[in-house]
Amino acid sequence: MKFNFRFIISVFILLYAIITLVFFNFYKELAIKDTKKEANSMLNNMNAIRTYIEEVQRPMIYNLMKDRETFDNYFNSKILSSTYISQYIYEKQLEKKELKYRYKLVATNPLNPIHKANAFEKQILEKFRNNEIKDYFSILEENGKSYFFIAKPIARNKPNCLMCHGNPQDAPKRLLAQYGNHSGFFEKVGDLRAMIYLKIAIADIISYHKSSFVTGGIAMFIVFILFIILIYIIYNKDKKLEDRKELLFEHQNRLAVMGSMIGNISHQWKQPLSHLSSILINIELLSERGKLTNDKVVSKVNDANTQITFMSNTINDFKNFFSPKDNNNSFRISDIVNQSIRLLQASLDRYSIKVKIDIEYDFTFVGSRNEFVQVFVNIINNAKDAFISNNIENRIISIKSFKHFDKTVISIQNNAGKINSLVFDKIFKPYFSTKDLSVATGIGLYICKVIVQRYKGTIQAKNLENGVIFEITFKS
Ligand SMILES: Nc1ncnc2c1ncn2[C@@H]1O[C@H](COP(=O)(O)OP(=O)(O)OP(=O)(O)O)[C@@H](O)[C@H]1O
Ligand SMILES: [Mg+2]
Repeated sequence: MKFNFRFIISVFILLYAIITLVFFNFYKELAIKDTKKEANSMLNNMNAIRTYIEEVQRPMIYNLMKDRETFDNYFNSKILSSTYISQYIYEKQLEKKELKYRYKLVATNPLNPIHKANAFEKQILEKFRNNEIKDYFSILEENGKSYFFIAKPIARNKPNCLMCHGNPQDAPKRLLAQYGNHSGFFEKVGDLRAMIYLKIAIADIISYHKSSFVTGGIAMFIVFILFIILIYIIYNKDKKLEDRKELLFEHQNRLAVMGSMIGNISHQWKQPLSHLSSILINIELLSERGKLTNDKVVSKVNDANTQITFMSNTINDFKNFFSPKDNNNSFRISDIVNQSIRLLQASLDRYSIKVKIDIEYDFTFVGSRNEFVQVFVNIINNAKDAFISNNIENRIISIKSFKHFDKTVISIQNNAGKINSLVFDKIFKPYFSTKDLSVATGIGLYICKVIVQRYKGTIQAKNLENGVIFEITFKS
């Protein structure tokens, strides 16, 4: 099957767009997965730091603060609050990071109001409390922007947590002075006080991974261009081969036409030759009788010249038709029609075929005159064959050229009977013939199609009531 190069490229571009889209989506997924892994490990780190403070550091410091007075006076979140310390460490880490997350701890009952969970966060925290999930991940939509969101619960309350989060009466005075006694108290051992989360705009993740996106995109683009070049090379090779094949066919057809025309030439010369010989005999007779006057000589010579001119014209037509190089000529359609008829005159006469010509719109082409003559000769020869094989009495070929809206049409019609409907779809195919293959090759109409398409035209056949019409159409 033959495909149009433009069609192939369109399909390719579409495919490329789809692949690019899939590729970028895939890359985005990969980037998010990567970020998730990193965020997960950061949250684990935060929890590990918290655990260290709660299990190691805080008991040791409490141990040092032996009495209640020291405990009250020297309480400082900088050495005792796992939230404060982990937050501080996080910020130190962030300074060295390119991808800036927002880290936060949220609680329903926080000492510090900045840690108060909103409705959405509360929901997740509730799930953690009920042990429904161990961690939480989702892509959030906020004000038209997408966010990556990952949360983990902190460790459940240990007894030493309640030194600050139990009864406010037991809490260190400095803590009460700092946060008041409204919120953050009456926690129980084993309860889940808070969760920590990381949040980041997806756009930031993508721009952080921009270089891999760009490299991937460029690599794909190069591969795509290489593919296009490859397709183009293959297509061109194919087309060149196709063109060569067409040219070969065209020559083959012209050779066949030439063969049949040798007969035409001799036939076309028969009449003027016998006319010439009769003129010579006449001159001889007149001279024998001494009646060859000067006037008579002039008249006979003129007569002879007319015949010779006719012979010379026919031979010129044939010569022109068989000379291969005639590109970039500008010619009128009426000239082509007349030349074709002159070439075929002998056989049209022999088989009593009448040709009617009606050039309503005589337009000009630029290209090869002979190619066009070949089209007419092939179609007229086919009609001639049909007239003979169908034994038609009154043989008429009618050639018209006219404008039809924005199109220019040349029609060649005959009354030689219809084309068999069984073969109708195949007549323009190469090597298709219903004729005796010793005389026909079946490339006549194929060549017509190739030539017409070379001039951006179309050719089609239609069956009429008692004949066939071939229409050659050009967009003007
Ligand atoms: N005017 C016509 N009337 C009826 N049948 C036609 C006519 N023109 C073409 N055909 C059919 O189309 C077939 C293909 O025509 P085409 O000119 O391609 O090949 P061909 O005439 O058989 O052989 P070639 O032209 O190569 O000597 C013919 O064999 C004939 O069956
Ligand atoms: Mg033919």
